[in-house]
Amino acid sequence: MSDYTAIIPVAGKGVRLLPYTAHCPKTMLSVAGQPIISHILRQVEECGIKRVVFIVGYEKESLIDYIRSHYAHLDVVFVEQTEQKGLGHAIYMAKSAVTGPCFIVLGDTIIDGDLRPLVQSSKNAVGVKIVEDPRRFGVVEMKDGLIVGFEEKPEQPKSNLALIGAYSFLDSAQLFSALEEVIASGKTVKNEIQLTDALSVLLQRGAEIIPMQMKDWFDCGTVEIMLKTNQILLDRYSQVPEKFTGSNRITPPCWIDERAELEGCVLGPYVSVSEGAVLKNCILQDTIVGNDTQLTSKTASHVIFDKYSK
Ligand code: G1P
Repeated sequence: MSDYTAIIPVAGKGVRLLPYTAHCPKTMLSVAGQPIISHILRQVEECGIKRVVFIVGYEKESLIDYIRSHYAHLDVVFVEQTEQKGLGHAIYMAKSAVTGPCFIVLGDTIIDGDLRPLVQSSKNAVGVKIVEDPRRFGVVEMKDGLIVGFEEKPEQPKSNLALIGAYSFLDSAQLFSALEEVIASGKTVKNEIQLTDALSVLLQRGAEIIPMQMKDWFDCGTVEIMLKTNQILLDRYSQVPEKFTGSNRITPPCWIDERAELEGCVLGPYVSVSEGAVLKNCILQDTIVGNDTQLTSKTASHVIFDKYSK
């Protein structure tokens, strides 16, 4: 078991995913049979972490209900961020709930890679990846194999090494103190208090932060990208419980949750059906069906359905 506390900011709305985010935060949207947050928590649990602080905000009840009913085995704390002042501010909200080492992982993307080395490291560490256009990310500047600078969404990036949204800190008190310095200075980038600027403060104070390469990450920013991510994940994890194969025709890869109900459907390839969904006489391909969604006689391809879909 790890002594790290995970901090997962999940307050964001995900405006580019409306109307699917009209009733829940982005992290509750399903991909490959489970909400984004469940994919993230699987990785966090693989790290041996048992304590998780969620920074909640927009439509927080749906997330809180889901976590309480599905993760009763974890020690969880929900901290509300009442004003959306940026990632740095969201993380600072966790101050009173966290001591010792902490592991921050962003709640709206699924990282492709093993996160364990980040929390097993004897140094502060950040997950990084080389990207084509670093201007929309936090950027890491390296010299002789060491990190010498950080900059959030720079116009003229000093490298193409981007922060992917996973950070481990040996001493959370140092992180919160660095965030306090950023907040007190009034510095913002794109009008938001940035976690990346606290990393710069830590460097200036002499802390060592090492980069850890991750394979990739699945940005779940738009419907298009969600469906692409669904495909990639289903190519890795396909699951069709035996009980559904009698009255339905299912072409893998698909992920059908045990707790779904299917009758007379033709599904696949690339269909994911989440817990509590009830599908009758549907023909679906390349489609995501979210939790508790009821569909009858639907024929669709390349679509997302949630429980509010008509
Ligand atoms: C945030 C961080 C940024 C990081 C990115 C990774 O930006 O501020 O440093 O590179 O996540 O997804 P956001 O995507 O919230 O604008």
